[in-house]
Amino acid sequence: MKIFIDTAKLEEIEEAYSLGILDGVTTNPSLIKKIVDELKEKGEKVDMESYITDILKAAKGTPVSLEVIGTSYEDMVKEGKKLFERFNPVADNVVIKIPVNPSTEDGSENVFDGIKAVKELSDAGIPVNCTLIFTPEQALMAAKAGAKFVSPFAGRVDDFIRANNKIEFEKTDYFPVEGIEKDGKVLDDNGVVSGIDLVSQCVEVLGNYGFETEVIAASIRNPRQAREAALAGAGIATLPFDVIKGLLAHSKTAEGMKKFVGDVIEEYNVLFK
Ligand code: G3P
Repeated sequence: MKIFIDTAKLEEIEEAYSLGILDGVTTNPSLIKKIVDELKEKGEKVDMESYITDILKAAKGTPVSLEVIGTSYEDMVKEGKKLFERFNPVADNVVIKIPVNPSTEDGSENVFDGIKAVKELSDAGIPVNCTLIFTPEQALMAAKAGAKFVSPFAGRVDDFIRANNKIEFEKTDYFPVEGIEKDGKVLDDNGVVSGIDLVSQCVEVLGNYGFETEVIAASIRNPRQAREAALAGAGIATLPFDVIKGLLAHSKTAEGMKKFVGDVIEEYNVLFK
């Protein structure tokens, strides 16, 4: 499974890439806001053009998703082309992120605009990451439109199921892949019982028809969900920095290390001098 980092924080991107095993970066307007707010709080001014340029260079030739802000087909295509033309020459690694459906209310008139934008940009040779995927059928539509990536939002599915059923939780709480039961019934969102179930259904649907579109398990909140994305066959998981760190953590590893460090004898130590 490829691992992308889900952040707009340059320091995190640089540190994660120092591992030598990172495969891409995903950003969105909320992640950009978060880092800009942080920098402003520290009294720093942000020049967005050069900040994005630094992110693209830090990603060392791997794909970086940059999201549009428009909600109409025309605006999204215009913005996608503008972002691609402006930034792709920096490191040849820009992917344009387009919401599958930019409508802010169910059933509104711009329900087709996301898919039309995905199709037009993809036909123009611009790689698209189709985002805000909450059903396998949205992923199918995006793949048919030529999206290079689709991003099912696992953690937010879990949020939705828990909130709908008045279950209290922390954002980073583990949510089992097989879902959770209440009053003897597995809770679901229209047949999707967990975020990872959504990822798994997207992988299965696209796999059934041999689409080249890659599934990015997104909105991943903890290392166990990342593991389950791998078990579900997601080609990619995009992970916040802390989740990447968490992939390496176990209390018994730390305990074992403490013992090894404590047991180093001088006769062995001398080999390293
Ligand atoms: O990759 C999508 C992601 O940034 C959303 O994550 O945790 O806000 O649902 P989250």
